[in-house]
Amino acid sequence: MSKEKFAGGFVVFVFIMFLIMYTLDRVGERKIYLPNYLPNRDLYIKNNSKTKTTSSSVSMVTVKTTSAPIMTSNKRQVSPQNDLHQYPYLILEKDVCKTKNSTDVFLVIAVCITPQNFEHRHVIRETWASIGKTNPQTRLVFILGNPRDEKVQAKLENESRTYHDIIQEDFVDSYRNLSIKSVAILKWVSNYCKTAKYVLKVDDDMYINVENLVKVLEQRAVKNSVLGFLIRGARPVQDKNSKWYTPRNAFNGDVYPDYCSGTAYVLSSDIVPKLFKVSQEIPLFWLEDIFITGICRTRIKANIVNDWGFTYGKPHPDGCTFRKRIGGHRYTLEEMRKIWKEVNDAILKCQ
Ligand SMILES: *[C@@H]1O[C@H](CO)[C@@H](O)[C@H](O)[C@H]1NC(C)=O
Ligand SMILES: *[C@@H]1O[C@H](CO)[C@@H](O)[C@H](O)[C@H]1NC(C)=O
Ligand SMILES: *[C@@H]1O[C@H](CO)[C@@H](O)[C@H](O)[C@H]1NC(C)=O
Ligand SMILES: *[C@@H]1O[C@H](CO)[C@@H](O)[C@H](O)[C@H]1NC(C)=O
Repeated sequence: MSKEKFAGGFVVFVFIMFLIMYTLDRVGERKIYLPNYLPNRDLYIKNNSKTKTTSSSVSMVTVKTTSAPIMTSNKRQVSPQNDLHQYPYLILEKDVCKTKNSTDVFLVIAVCITPQNFEHRHVIRETWASIGKTNPQTRLVFILGNPRDEKVQAKLENESRTYHDIIQEDFVDSYRNLSIKSVAILKWVSNYCKTAKYVLKVDDDMYINVENLVKVLEQRAVKNSVLGFLIRGARPVQDKNSKWYTPRNAFNGDVYPDYCSGTAYVLSSDIVPKLFKVSQEIPLFWLEDIFITGICRTRIKANIVNDWGFTYGKPHPDGCTFRKRIGGHRYTLEEMRKIWKEVNDAILKCQ
């Protein structure tokens, strides 16, 4: 064989090997990782060919369960301990989901709120969640922990006697304990609201257009799913000064599993008892949305149905915007009142 032929053959050989390795690498990469990241949690939303961003509330895509990094069982000392959720009820309502005739509740709205936010509960009852008064197939409950303040507790119990919509468990109500609060929803729904078709978990600074949400749920009729604003490829924050700092031993993996923004998401009721069960079998992870809609959801092989209508952004607080939306985040109480008034203003015409 001549030197030239050998050299040519060698070049071709190297090139082919390179192609094979590159392809294998890409395939592996796609299987294990998602292609792009931002350093912060909650900040990255993948925009591939299967998803499309629109401001409409009905653009959706179903995301199949993928294998996701799971916390290891041997390195969990630093994160909150495995939480067998056995906090006694300080305030319990058992009859919220009972209906006069045997019609099932369609949607139960569970607002996660701190005990001290009296005014928030008042405004939520009066505005967007008041739809329960006209639509008997929706129910409203507030989920909270222990304020460890006798005055607040006394006021809360008084409030509860008036409205009968407060569920309170005896764990310390704090930001670090938000996952416990979400598990409290799963537990309460599993025991006292089994027949509801859907459960909306929502934060107290969200505005939700319940009518639109109900329409979307009726249209989609999803099962075995979490419906919300999909976040893909978020990574544990390694900056110690961050609110979301997550040490390596709290989450063992580079990327969180797909999850829905915790500001508002809907669970189809078939997965609620399963999520509750699995939440008792694995260590509690303190970021509630990642824990419930990411880690626990992956374990029970439920899907995410993405809907950009559940944005955690802040759409302009006015009636015309909200007639077309499901929700928005970070509204003041004045803004909630304003949106509610305008959404229901018969004279207000929108394009
Ligand atoms: C996402 O992709 C669609 C088309 O695939 C494009 O119209 C849209 O502007 C993109 N959105 C963002 C935020 O990049
Ligand atoms: C039962 O209640 C639901 C809502 O509460 C109502 O829509 C339905 O018409 C009722 N059915 C009967 C037979 O009363
Ligand atoms: C108890 O609740 C009622 C109705 O919500 C309210 O009018 C009253 O001021 C409350 N009392 C106290 C002591 O908070
Ligand atoms: C809740 O959070 C507080 C402080 O953030 C913490 O001291 C407490 O142990 C946590 N857990 C429970 C079950 O209250």
